[in-house]
Amino acid sequence: MLEFRKVEARYGGFTALRDITLCVRPSERVAILGHNGAGKTTLLRCGMGDVDDLSGTIAYNGEEIVAGSVYRNARRGIGFVPQGHNVFRDLSVAQNLKIAGLLHDQAYVDEVYRLFPMLLERRAQIAGSLSGGQQQMLAVGMALMTRPSLLMLDEPTTGLAPIIVQDMFRSLLEINRCTGTAIVLVEQNIAAVLRIVERAIVLKTGGIIFDGPSAELARQEDLWRWF
Ligand SMILES: Nc1ncnc2c1ncn2[C@@H]1O[C@H](COP(=O)(O)OP(=O)(O)OP(=O)(O)O)[C@@H](O)[C@H]1O
Ligand SMILES: [Mg+2]
Repeated sequence: MLEFRKVEARYGGFTALRDITLCVRPSERVAILGHNGAGKTTLLRCGMGDVDDLSGTIAYNGEEIVAGSVYRNARRGIGFVPQGHNVFRDLSVAQNLKIAGLLHDQAYVDEVYRLFPMLLERRAQIAGSLSGGQQQMLAVGMALMTRPSLLMLDEPTTGLAPIIVQDMFRSLLEINRCTGTAIVLVEQNIAAVLRIVERAIVLKTGGIIFDGPSAELARQEDLWRWF
């Protein structure tokens, strides 16, 4: 569904990703791991069509993803939750969900409320007054309003208490099971995320050093040496 072939991404003279070949299949759950600056965010941005200077090819359902095509890719079914709480702070929960939909449909909103009952309870609350975890759930809910077949999330649990991290992971699993949406998520909570994904990709200074079953990575005794 999402395919990278020999992708190299650059910022000015700096090469942030090199020789990236990978494939994400429909309904798959994949974690992208790696140290700070390894290129994880850049990888997601490439998949969204948000990196200008790259070579190699990226395709989504067989159609090439070109730089600057973020809006079109959202229409084609790629959802993206960037790092940080990307909600409209001055609007209510319900208003945030409404403006996030490409085609507003109450049925989509109801589905988001079913996945995140907390958002239904707080639908009239101003988003800026939600807790960090609640804002992050709203950001995921907003991405779901575009009915993605692939959902990419950049560190959705950073700064959240462990119990909220578990809530977020449980919701992502539920989204994946109920809608078949493929999930690609960048994570620092490595041990926890390896329990909910099927596959993990580890980046080191812009290159892939592991791509395989998450259980295989979790079994590595020297796992921490990889990061
Ligand atoms: N807009 C930019 N201009 C120049 N260099 C950049 C830019 N964005 C990222 N980089 C560099 O590219 C490399 C990869 O950055 P990236 O943000 O993809 O890493 P990351 O794995 O997401 O890191 P983190 O875990 O800290 O979020 C880093 O060395 C970073 O400094
Ligand atoms: Mg990053």
